[in-house]
Amino acid sequence: MEQTSQLLICLTSLLCCTTTTARLTVSPSSSQLFKGDSVSLSCEEDDSSAGWTLRRNTTKRQRTQCGADWGEAAGSSCIISYTLPLDSGVYWCESREGATSSSISISVSGGPVILQSPVLPVMEGHDVTLHCKTKTTPSTLPAAFYKDGSLIRTEPAGHMTIHHVSRSDEGLYRCNISGHGESPPSWISVTEKPTTLAPPPAPAPPPASAPLQLVFRLLLHLVVFCPYFISTVIMVSLYRHRATGNDLPVSMAMAPPTKAEQRLAEDYDDIMAVTTEHQL
Ligand SMILES: *[C@@H]1O[C@H](CO)[C@@H](O)[C@H](O)[C@H]1NC(C)=O
Ligand SMILES: *[C@@H]1O[C@H](CO)[C@@H](O)[C@H](O)[C@H]1NC(C)=O
Repeated sequence: MEQTSQLLICLTSLLCCTTTTARLTVSPSSSQLFKGDSVSLSCEEDDSSAGWTLRRNTTKRQRTQCGADWGEAAGSSCIISYTLPLDSGVYWCESREGATSSSISISVSGGPVILQSPVLPVMEGHDVTLHCKTKTTPSTLPAAFYKDGSLIRTEPAGHMTIHHVSRSDEGLYRCNISGHGESPPSWISVTEKPTTLAPPPAPAPPPASAPLQLVFRLLLHLVVFCPYFISTVIMVSLYRHRATGNDLPVSMAMAPPTKAEQRLAEDYDDIMAVTTEHQL
């Protein structure tokens, strides 16, 4: 019995662990940074007990860990307060069991111009805006935008919006501000819309405050894990009940009769006595 319930608990925790994932978020949300900018990366996890760590590959070293090899660990976040070009690389979250989040590519430029593009893949049909920025002047300078080496167009305000992104918009983008210089290139990937007849994309949730997000996460957690938890508890208690259940009917039968029962029995005896007397 005990083995079975232990097995159930094991199974439950296994189910829990296989459902956990982490999402890597970056703030500011830009695939390119100027040298000296600060950046905060965090693993938004479903299960903090899975032991997610933030790792990166750079040209020099692979799979190095935040806090130990670079950056400053602060709770589930990791901060690089003064980025250098050698911080350029691929970042991801990895659990103790080796599960990984999707990765994010960050490029730190020592040059005068950067292209701010989304760190995450863009969904087909959505709009995407690219900003071309210089380190010193506000982003109101005209900029030229290039894709895969050829000029797309020049924008007077330094930012370009691509409407209704399609797979053909995927590619290597960079920009150039006259008199300042050129940005490093950044790859923009486009993910296919789910082919199922899904309802129209829900409007992006309003930027909820941290406590609200926490509550939401907690609720999600409860909704996902409650069935497992409850079924485990029920199973365990059922087995417990069964293990001790055999004694129950016996102890009930052995229970001393109540006063009312005793009186009823006595009355019955009297009646029996009377009837037997009459019969005699
Ligand atoms: C990081 O580098 C390791 C070793 O070279 C490689 O196996 C792994 O795929 C890289 N990870 C990413 C996300 O690029
Ligand atoms: C940047 O653009 C200007 C024109 O806007 C051009 O003259 C210059 O050569 C470009 N620089 C680079 C590095 O492409």
